Amino acid sequence: MRFAVFSYLLASLQTIVTATSVQGLYDLVQRRLPGHSEEFVFTLNETTCANSTDLVNDSFTVATGANGSIAITGNSLSALATGLRRYLTEVAHTDVYWFIDSRLDEITTTLPRPNATITGSSIVPWRYYFNTVTFSYTTPFWSWEDWEKELDWLALHGVNLPLAWVGFEKILLDVFQSINMTTSEIMPFFSGPAFQAWNRFGNIQGSWGGELPLQWIDSQFELQQKILKRMLELGMTPILPAFTGFVPRTLTDVYPNATVVNGSQWEGFPTEYTNTTFLAPSDPLFTVLQNLTIVKQIEYYGNITQYYTLDQYNENDPFSGDLDYLRNVTRGTWQSLKSANAAAVWVMQGWLFTSNADFWTNERIEAYLSGVEVDSDMLILDLFSESQPEWQRTNSYYGKPWIWNMLHNYGGNMGLYGQIANVTINPIEALANSSSLVGFGLTPEGQQGNEIMYKLLLDQAWKNTPIDTSSYFRSWAQTRYAEGVSVPTSALPSGVTTAWELLRTSAYNNQNLSAGNAVSKAIYELAPNITKLTNRTGHHPTTVTYDPQIVIQAWNELYRAATQQQRLWESPGFEHDFVDVTRQVFSNAFLSSYESLISTWTASTIDSPPSTKETLLSQAETLISLLHTLDAILATLPQFSLEPWISSARSWALLNTNTTSFTTSTSLQDQNLLTYNAINQLTLWGPTGQINDYASKSWAGLVAGYYVPRWETFLEYLVSVAPEGYRDEEARARVVVVEMGFQKKRKEKRSPWRRKRLQYCTYGCMHERQQTNTTHYMASKYKPYP
Ligand SMILES: *[C@@H]1O[C@H](CO)[C@@H](O)[C@H](O)[C@H]1NC(C)=O
Ligand SMILES: *[C@@H]1O[C@H](CO)[C@@H](O)[C@H](O)[C@H]1NC(C)=O
Ligand SMILES: *[C@@H]1O[C@H](CO)[C@@H](O)[C@H](O)[C@H]1NC(C)=O
Ligand SMILES: *[C@@H]1O[C@H](CO)[C@@H](O)[C@H](O)[C@H]1NC(C)=O
Ligand SMILES: *[C@@H]1O[C@H](CO)[C@@H](O)[C@H](O)[C@H]1NC(C)=O
Ligand SMILES: *[C@@H]1O[C@H](CO)[C@@H](O)[C@H](O)[C@H]1NC(C)=O
Ligand SMILES: *[C@@H]1O[C@H](CO)[C@@H](O)[C@H](O)[C@H]1NC(C)=O
Ligand SMILES: *[C@@H]1O[C@H](CO)[C@@H](O)[C@H](O)[C@H]1NC(C)=O
Ligand SMILES: *[C@@H]1O[C@H](CO)[C@@H](O)[C@H](O)[C@H]1NC(C)=O
Ligand SMILES: *[C@@H]1O[C@H](CO)[C@@H](O)[C@H](O)[C@H]1NC(C)=O
Ligand SMILES: *[C@@H]1O[C@H](CO)[C@@H](O)[C@H](O)[C@H]1NC(C)=O
Ligand SMILES: *[C@@H]1O[C@H](CO)[C@@H](O)[C@H](O)[C@H]1NC(C)=O
Repeated sequence: MRFAVFSYLLASLQTIVTATSVQGLYDLVQRRLPGHSEEFVFTLNETTCANSTDLVNDSFTVATGANGSIAITGNSLSALATGLRRYLTEVAHTDVYWFIDSRLDEITTTLPRPNATITGSSIVPWRYYFNTVTFSYTTPFWSWEDWEKELDWLALHGVNLPLAWVGFEKILLDVFQSINMTTSEIMPFFSGPAFQAWNRFGNIQGSWGGELPLQWIDSQFELQQKILKRMLELGMTPILPAFTGFVPRTLTDVYPNATVVNGSQWEGFPTEYTNTTFLAPSDPLFTVLQNLTIVKQIEYYGNITQYYTLDQYNENDPFSGDLDYLRNVTRGTWQSLKSANAAAVWVMQGWLFTSNADFWTNERIEAYLSGVEVDSDMLILDLFSESQPEWQRTNSYYGKPWIWNMLHNYGGNMGLYGQIANVTINPIEALANSSSLVGFGLTPEGQQGNEIMYKLLLDQAWKNTPIDTSSYFRSWAQTRYAEGVSVPTSALPSGVTTAWELLRTSAYNNQNLSAGNAVSKAIYELAPNITKLTNRTGHHPTTVTYDPQIVIQAWNELYRAATQQQRLWESPGFEHDFVDVTRQVFSNAFLSSYESLISTWTASTIDSPPSTKETLLSQAETLISLLHTLDAILATLPQFSLEPWISSARSWALLNTNTTSFTTSTSLQDQNLLTYNAINQLTLWGPTGQINDYASKSWAGLVAGYYVPRWETFLEYLVSVAPEGYRDEEARARVVVVEMGFQKKRKEKRSPWRRKRLQYCTYGCMHERQQTNTTHYMASKYKPYP
């Protein structure tokens, strides 16, 4: 199968790319190491295009060639790209990174030649990348230049199976138009630019704050054409979308006899925006729509892949739990795929089995998967393998090929975090215990931070024993701060490696999964409250799973290193890490200061001395001042600031101000929609606070502009009721009500109670109003016109 994939990739390269197969690698070197491309010789040594259906592992060799070239040989383009990175990190001591760009351009002099041959062999044929939601949490506003860097990073890290969702709405629009639906019947189905992932999943429909612009659909489609072409050049097999069954509500106006069911409600969204209409796979129209979806993509992009992503029940429960019903759904869907592309493989995120575990009993999972009668026609992504793997309980998905994935973070939250043991030991164990495991991959909700963890798993895909993380972290620090060959790693201050060793053994070594099993969240990003902010566990933990003193020590080590070697302040990698570690130190400091304030508050009684108020006031001031200082620190780098997120969103409207078909006012309207979407995702998320703060970020502008006002309102209230308050029964009662939260219904008839409860509600309601207002305020701040 792999050989087959390879041969038609070559065929499509000839038709689409018109480049020799290794040209993509020379182009990569040209992009990242201009002037050095003639020093490399890439040789693809796999000439036999066997008709084998076995997936094969990749292998490469890097050596100094006879003519003095850096000779990289391998059996696939992905093998060659991985070999290139091994050369870069091990011989040239440089690498590519998120946020801070390629550091390769620092090699201005002669490239060093490898002294000895470097070899590498993958232990799994597939290295997968992306979560469907990464396309909304991280990439929705990316430009082509952003994508170019991303795709080079993926290639160099050996990724050969990326998800490719960009611009899918263009395909759907075409598909529904082909069955005689009008544009105005179709457009209201689509969600806003920052929320498309969940529309693609069928969780939501429609767009609040304004309808998706047609112009956005067209420009995203153009971007997708570039992305796919580049993926092929770099030896990746893109996974393209397929038809899931989710359709505009208006479909039944045009096809009154279509068999549809109302999907379930998602995350408390109003029915208007959820309960998405699902067309039964048994309806002949389903097959027509599937065929159109596949055929249109082949028409636009070429016959470039056999892999299709298709999720019908991601956080949506099926209409029925009947085993026959479930089996019929998959069988119908599978047959529709195969009739459209005989080679199709259905790729599915296995997340539903985790998120909706109550529904998905083993019996139902088995029934659902068995509808795909040929195992190799399906590929399951075990989505959160480091913390909540499902492959054991499902007996390796009852024989379907599957991929072991690290999810790592939810909503692009930003705490320093890793499970180094789970990510190195567990996949190797899985490989030994499951014969249908065919790949390792990464499924982050956001590509946001902790890059070392992502590199670690992708590197683990080329090593058959668990990587020694101690030396791995040491090399990371050395390569990252050595800045190419000009500075020998031995000349680096030891503080940088000590710092990373401290981080490795604390924040990156969570072994207590019941305290938190994914990236942690700073409590200042949450709606202020006197309860329930701390010690949260699970997917957005606020529990600190390590001794916070160790991260402070790491900060000190980094600081000391930079005082010893001033040039570190100019090193983008160092700057990034220094701000990031500082952010974590502030996050932890805020947490403990908050706990002090709450303990003052809780310990106070009617008889507390007046100094209680002063204590509370000064503790409140500490909290606010921590946030202001943090905001100023974050503002030193764009990757920790809100502004680039907003301006990249807006640029999608600006891009088209020249086109004659759109008036300037349309463009401004689009800018407002894009701005609203960008801010709404980080804050309220849904139209009225559904999954509020889920995708919160520690970004300059958001901290001072959104989190600070919320905390000020809250703290001012606490301080205002604290002092005299305890001197009379009424205020005492008021405090009790605060402690119980304003949702608690008080039945007492005592009027003071009721009056005070009302007052508290004034705080609560004001707090909610303020929150909504702040979102609008922030949106208006970025409005291009009043
Ligand atoms: C290709 O498949 C055919 C039929 O299964 C088989 O006879 C032939 O040996 C295979 N060729 C290679 C190179 O594996
Ligand atoms: C291709 O090169 C790789 C790496 O040098 C090697 O492992 C593999 O055996 C070679 N394959 C062939 C068919 O020569
Ligand atoms: C290559 O060999 C030279 C001379 O022995 C040595 O100085 C250098 O560190 C070696 N380079 C690598 C990448 O091993
Ligand atoms: C769409 O309308 C055209 C013209 O009325 C008709 O020929 C065609 O069959 C219709 N297509 C579908 C899928 O109903
Ligand atoms: C829908 O079904 C009804 C009743 O079975 C039938 O009379 C009608 O012709 C069908 N309409 C279409 C458009 O197929
Ligand atoms: C939406 O889905 C929920 C189940 O998740 C269901 O209770 C509700 O009735 C549905 N609403 C509509 C209008 O279908
Ligand atoms: C499943 O499909 C079979 C064959 O089409 C059909 O006889 C059966 O009624 C379907 N079962 C359910 C529950 O939809
Ligand atoms: C899919 O669509 C193409 C092009 O319209 C058509 O030739 C083919 O017969 C269709 N296949 C199926 C299974 O409907
Ligand atoms: C696309 O390629 C697959 C082989 O991977 C082949 O089975 C299928 O027929 C091709 N489809 C088209 C429309 O060329
Ligand atoms: C991850 O590691 C922890 C501690 O090392 C262990 O208790 C846990 O079982 C591992 N998790 C999984 C999913 O294997
Ligand atoms: C949270 O956990 C910490 C450490 O385990 C503990 O000291 C603290 O009392 C807990 N706080 C609450 C509110 O449970
Ligand atoms: C504080 O948390 C409680 C418990 O979760 C909740 O009932 C209450 O509404 C929250 N208060 C505010 C002001 O958000």
